[in-house]
This record gives sequence, structure tokens and C-alpha cells, in this order.
Amino acid sequence: MTKEIIKIEDLKREFTMGTEVVHALKGVSFSIKEGEFVTIMGSSGSGKSTMLNILGCLDQPTSGIYEIDGVKVKDLTKNELATIRNEKIGFIFQSYNLLARTSAIENVELPLLYNSKVSTEERRARALKALEMVGLGERLHHTPSQLSGGQQQRVAIARALVNNPVMILADEATGNLDTRTSYEIMTLFQELNRQGITITFVTHEPDIAMFSSRTVVLKDGAVIKDAKNNNIQSAAAELAKLPKENH
Ligand SMILES: Nc1ncnc2c1ncn2[C@@H]1O[C@H](COP(=O)(O)OP(=O)(O)O)[C@@H](O)[C@H]1O
Ligand SMILES: [Mg+2]
Repeated sequence: MTKEIIKIEDLKREFTMGTEVVHALKGVSFSIKEGEFVTIMGSSGSGKSTMLNILGCLDQPTSGIYEIDGVKVKDLTKNELATIRNEKIGFIFQSYNLLARTSAIENVELPLLYNSKVSTEERRARALKALEMVGLGERLHHTPSQLSGGQQQRVAIARALVNNPVMILADEATGNLDTRTSYEIMTLFQELNRQGITITFVTHEPDIAMFSSRTVVLKDGAVIKDAKNNNIQSAAAELAKLPKENH
């Protein structure tokens, strides 16, 4: 049986705002197996980002169980959490979150700076390899402002890959991109998934969800649908169908 990378049970997250309590997640349960490509969908405010931040150990649930790779996250020390976050998870955001005035290769090297086991030479070599993987081997010394939105997101993806994570968590990663660039990025995600990386991809765009193997739909902090996709589309094929003048 394939191993469960993520397992959550009755997960709740409440935010207290003055005298009001916002129930962002109202008891969510599901698991994600190694090698899956899951999209989490739902309208704005349904709890997608709250969910992803907990999965990425950037936030803690109010109650419920979260296990990552068979380990209960609640039982981990701060250091163990930081190690998991840094070495097992690659995070990708809508707004890229790159350092301005810092070259592509230096941005990608960042997650390795905290790893004393990686030498300067190895750091450079791994960042170079990650940038080549995302098709930016010729843009190493460009800063974010010298790159298009799609290229900036590729740098962010390379940065997420540089530690060889077992899973990638992406929050609206194509939210700022046009259709063509979105499909290019989805082609890349499908390639990475084929190489064995588990992907959890938050989006509110149905045409993006058709590239994944399963869709979990949230509404008002609860799962209202969790279904396998029996008709996975190839992002590369959809890309080829787009009219050329769209470029
Ligand atoms: N840090 C926070 N403090 C207070 N309320 C929050 C916070 N983060 C999210 N929320 C609330 O939780 C709900 C879910 O938000 P979010 O997870 O960001 O939704 P989505 O990503 O699906 O748009 C919303 O009602 C939002 O206002
Ligand atoms: Mg969100």
C-alpha cells in the first residue's frame, strides 16, 4: 500500500478577533498518499490558505490531529518542526515571495543557507540544477524585476525544489498568471509529480484542477467533496491548443 504523507483528522482552526471567533476550519479530515497531485478548491474565505498553512507547519490547528509521514506534528519540538519544514516541504505562493535585488540563483540558494552540511560549492551546484529543471538555466543572474511573472514563479519553484522535498504545497501559485503562463507552470508541476513529488495545490480555478489527480472542495471550512479525477488533462497538450497570438 502506498504510504500516507499527510493525514489529518477532525482538524479545527479558530481565530479569535476581539469578542468574535472565526471558525476557519470546522473539523476537516482527509489523507494524501505519496505521489498524489491534489487540488484544494473552494471560493474565497472557504479555508484553503488556513488549511495549507497548517499542512506546511506554518500554523498550528486549534484541535485535531495532523500527521506528516507518520509523525504527529503536535509532538515535534520547534527544531524538529523547522527541519521538516525546511527539508521535506517546498512552499510556493501566489506572490512568488522572492527577495528583490537578489539574483535568481541567490534566491534559490536561500533554503540551503541554513543547512550547515551543505558547502558553498554544493549550494551553488544544487541551485543551478534546480534552475535548469525549471528551464531558467540562462537566467541565473537576473533579479526578480528583470524577469516576467511566469519566470519569477519558476524561480520560486526552483527554490522550493532545491532541498529535494517529498512534497510541494502551492497556494494559488498561478493566481497572478495569464492562461498560457499558468499552463506552462502546470506542465512543470505535472512533470515534477511524474518524478514522484507529492503536490497539494490550492486554487479556485476549475481549469487548473483538471490537471490534478484528485480534488478536495472546501466550503465554509468543511470538506463538501473529495473525488478522484478520472479524466486528468495534460497541461502540455492544453498549452499546445492555445492560440499563438495569446503569447
Ligand atoms: N489570521 C487570521 N485571523 C483572523 N481570521 C482569519 C485569519 N486567517 C484567515 N482568517 C479567516 O478564516 C477564513 C478562511 O480564510 P482563508 O483560509 O484565508 O480562506 P481562503 O484561502 O479559502 O480564501 C476567512 O473567514 C478568513 O477571514
Ligand atoms: Mg487563500
